[in-house]
Amino acid sequence: MLFDNHNRPITYLRLAVTDRCNLRCFYCMPEEGIRYLPKKQLLTFEEMERLVGILAGLGVNKVRITGGEPFVRNGLMAFMRALSAIDGLTELAMTTNGVLTAPHVSELVGLGLKSVNLSIDTLDRQRFHQITRRDELPAVLRTLDELLAHNIEVKINAVVMEGQNIEDIPLLAELTRDQPVAVRFIEEMPFNGEGTHYPVLNWTHRRILTELKSFYPDLHKLTDGPFSTSNDYQIPGYQGTVGIIAAFSRTFCGSCNRIRMTAQGVLKTCLYDSGVLNVRDLMRSGATDADLVEAFKQAFASRPANGFEAEQNRAPVSESMATIGG
Ligand code: GTP
Ligand code: 5AD
Ligand code: SF4
Repeated sequence: MLFDNHNRPITYLRLAVTDRCNLRCFYCMPEEGIRYLPKKQLLTFEEMERLVGILAGLGVNKVRITGGEPFVRNGLMAFMRALSAIDGLTELAMTTNGVLTAPHVSELVGLGLKSVNLSIDTLDRQRFHQITRRDELPAVLRTLDELLAHNIEVKINAVVMEGQNIEDIPLLAELTRDQPVAVRFIEEMPFNGEGTHYPVLNWTHRRILTELKSFYPDLHKLTDGPFSTSNDYQIPGYQGTVGIIAAFSRTFCGSCNRIRMTAQGVLKTCLYDSGVLNVRDLMRSGATDADLVEAFKQAFASRPANGFEAEQNRAPVSESMATIGG
């Protein structure tokens, strides 16, 4: 296993397979979409497979497929099949918006997919339409049912936004009554693809917790996982859990075991760096596996201790979460 220069193990790869999306969540991208990358600039699935194989050899055991929306890329399921055959990966996971996911769930189970994180900011069809600019809530809820029916571990991501989905906090929490889901309320981060928006963080983790406690005074704290982004709680008697991801006001840097590969093949060793290595160009210029191993080792040996520290990283940026992969 590889450790970085701050003695943190690198075991978790977040791989964005596309920057495209079939929703337009306003906190992620503008109405017209972001300027998508030309296809040639994206890693091919073959290139991704090669990279994951190399990283697995270096000790990465968990891969989360992200985007954009993974299912808008043609050939995703064939790629998932290829990934499931890579030695050393013990956890294959995916973050999806759920619009196109339902028909693939049973095959994903067969491939050993462990968990799916599903973005659902609201359970109200009209509010969903307003937030995502698309009327797709029914399809997303079908995916949720399908995942639960197949006993896949499901985490629901809900970005908490003033004037948008505050009344959904207890409604989403109620999903945990009879189902073993983890509902995670997320602080909004300044990655909306425009560099605008994001005046103040109205809904901090503290305020979200106060809101939850106003409905569930007996909410009790659970122990958080070692590399977890969320602080988890449970409502007594309920099957699932509720969590809060303080994505903006806190840093997870001390226990960060994750690296990111953007859809165009740029390695990010921190959510807040702008890319430390163009792996695509390296591969396309004929790098051998040994060259790539060396390049990865070098990148891991100079990770920032806390990339979130720099003040400029807290300002709105023009990057979209869809290019970074979350
Ligand atoms: P698991 O821990 O594997 O379940 O995944 P996750 O919760 O990290 O991933 P997911 O894709 O569901 O992302 C949930 C939220 O956490 C999103 O808003 C991400 O942008 C945010 N997030 C993920 N990793 C980081 C990180 O390293 N730093 C910060 N600040 N936020 C992150
Ligand atoms: N702030 C916080 N979370 C975000 N996501 C996308 N954009 C933002 C943002 N600006 C979340 C979505 C998705 C996850 C990968 O990232 O909820 O589930
Ligand atoms: Fe698409 Fe996810 Fe961005 Fe929404 S947050 S537009 S679902 S990539």
